[in-house]
Amino acid sequence: MKTPDCTHFPHQDLASLAEWSAEDIQRVFAVAAALKADPEGHRSLLDGKRVALIFEKDSLRTRMTFDLGIQQLGGSAVYLDHRHERLGARESVPDMAHNLERWVDLIVARTYRHRHVLELAKHASVPVVNGLSELLHPCQALADLMTLHEKWDGQLAGKKLVYIGDGNNTCHSLLHAAPKLGMNVTVCTPEGYEPNFKVMETAREAARVAGVTLEHTSDPQEAATGAHAVYTDVWASMGQEDETEERAAVFIDYQVDEDLMSYTDDAFFMHCLPAHRGQEVTAGVLDGPASIVFDIAENRLHAQKAVMALLLLGQTPDTNATSPALEEVTA
Ligand code: CP
Ligand code: NVA
Repeated sequence: MKTPDCTHFPHQDLASLAEWSAEDIQRVFAVAAALKADPEGHRSLLDGKRVALIFEKDSLRTRMTFDLGIQQLGGSAVYLDHRHERLGARESVPDMAHNLERWVDLIVARTYRHRHVLELAKHASVPVVNGLSELLHPCQALADLMTLHEKWDGQLAGKKLVYIGDGNNTCHSLLHAAPKLGMNVTVCTPEGYEPNFKVMETAREAARVAGVTLEHTSDPQEAATGAHAVYTDVWASMGQEDETEERAAVFIDYQVDEDLMSYTDDAFFMHCLPAHRGQEVTAGVLDGPASIVFDIAENRLHAQKAVMALLLLGQTPDTNATSPALEEVTA
């Protein structure tokens, strides 16, 4: 297969999908599909490129797929375990960025504070990718939507995506991307756990431009009715462990089970993983025929290889090297 065109990509970083257009996201899908179809043919695409993986939180998928992804493209990764020492504690985040840019070509960061992803992006001269912050999880949303794009032969437009549960980082990045791609999105959360107000405003504007609907409800059956894809995530995210019991009581009626799935239009079931059977989803749904969770996990690899290729090979004098203003995206 032909080497995908990774030139002329308009972004330096992937901190958030809010700034990425539908065209940018479609390019990720196209490059990812080419890399997925012919991994052997692209063993040298990022020859010698070095990636730093800074993780303040646990990870299976994100760490594995960035590390393996860069290796498969001819580069290498160094893992920086920050799970026991918060970013900024030993050394300022800008100083860390100025050190890393001398040694590596790209930085992936999983942080407790989204602000730290933005600070790295602002101060590092090399691309910075958000590997999950408390606010956003853009790499996840790219793999989620790439998977639907594959399942539906590229026809995302007009489909109904329903997110049920906590209005969290995973939900926010889906909200940044799905309406732009022409999907009708319904978010269903209990009161007090709605998505971030600014993320909703951005998504509402994107939905208006794309001519699709963006709805919020607290009624799971109403949300699920007619859905083509149903997504849920954990009720307590990393960093919220001490709220686990309280949240379990609030979210009990928001479990995705067989009955809820029966209201949908033969929807796929989606989850970023890790999942908790018997909490946000029943084992029957997670392990059932509608579940595409492991297809999504596989596509984390392909989508992120595409993101790295586009960010590393696509820079031009017009590439947007500026970071979004900190106050605009901080929860
Ligand atoms: N979905 C996801 O990001 O998984 P990890 O937390 O294991 O990286
Ligand atoms: N919302 C979850 C996603 C994990 C991949 C968390 O932040 O823990």
